[in-house]
Amino acid sequence: MSGRIPTLPDLGDVRGKRVLVRTDFNVPMDGGAITDDFRIRAALPTIQWLLERGASVVTASHLGRPKGTPEPKYSMEPVRVRLAELAPGVELLENLRFDPGEEANDPAFVARLVDGIDAYVDDAFGACHRAHASIVGPPKTLPSAMGLLLQREVEVLMSLRESPRHPFVAVLGGSKISDKLGVVEALMQVVDSLVVGGAMCFTFLAAKGYGIGDSLFEPDQVDTCRRLLADAASAGKAIYLPEDIVGVDARGAVATFGRSLPAGAKGFDIGPGSAAAFSDVIMDARTVFWNGPMGMFEDPRFEAGTRTVAQAMADTKAFTVVGGGDSAAALAQFRLDDEVDHVSTGGGASLELLELGDLPGLEALRKAPNA
Ligand code: 3PG
Ligand code: MG
Repeated sequence: MSGRIPTLPDLGDVRGKRVLVRTDFNVPMDGGAITDDFRIRAALPTIQWLLERGASVVTASHLGRPKGTPEPKYSMEPVRVRLAELAPGVELLENLRFDPGEEANDPAFVARLVDGIDAYVDDAFGACHRAHASIVGPPKTLPSAMGLLLQREVEVLMSLRESPRHPFVAVLGGSKISDKLGVVEALMQVVDSLVVGGAMCFTFLAAKGYGIGDSLFEPDQVDTCRRLLADAASAGKAIYLPEDIVGVDARGAVATFGRSLPAGAKGFDIGPGSAAAFSDVIMDARTVFWNGPMGMFEDPRFEAGTRTVAQAMADTKAFTVVGGGDSAAALAQFRLDDEVDHVSTGGGASLELLELGDLPGLEALRKAPNA
């Protein structure tokens, strides 16, 4: 990353100005109700900063993935209600993705967004990896800045790339190694060890020749995993894989297996021995980055591995960072979200920033007229 990204004071005097704040209010919803308002609360410090200095604040976000046309189930109305409780008097535009111009980065849509606006603030870390109109468009013409949330996200995640305290451990889970290959390769450059759980561990276990029964895995990634294991070994870095697995046997009964699963069995969580071993690695680290659950934690039969890792994240003295998405949801489910140093509001964005060291949204801010 090169060049300075303007921060809020770089906007100058905002009194009486209309400031457009791009937020990531893409909150989880269930039947029209917000199930977690974390992303709304995370934007409040920036909104307050602007309000206290006499600005009027217009927020804008996407919600879900509507395809360029209004869909009632993606209406911002529930967010507007919650925002009005948390920050009265703040405007919120309708879902940006109701217009095809948002994802297409259409200059005409940008022009409509900035009409009557004096300055732009990007606080939508979770969407900064998208080169969409509301992210990259306004800084072309308006004095712009990153908000306080975006600033903190960038500081924390870039510090993992550039100056982590060692031992630095990355704990990875989730289902697909193919989704995370880029970030795994980037992390391998800076970490001392990698801990792998979640369904992606079966692709690694298959690469090592263990039986994985009928577990989910990616056959076309077995060679990649074999290469990652070999690269790690020659760089003197450890890749920790589960030594036991909890799942169901061929008749569907819950069972704990060793590292090799019998035919017909399916793994859904790391076993207790693996969870204890992974915890030890986390406890001995000085920096830990965690992305992706260890198993199917939504099902109480398969939550123990993820819960144990989450608890170790809370207990360790290491600097602990949790990538957004499912691992953040798991922490919240176990009520441990206040016990780690940083929970990122971005899933894909945090991985892309770790991988590439830059994001389209940051690049756009660096080229703003006031930068
Ligand atoms: C997210 O939830 O990761 C962000 O809001 C980005 O959403 P998107 O993946 O639909 O672009
Ligand atoms: Mg701690």
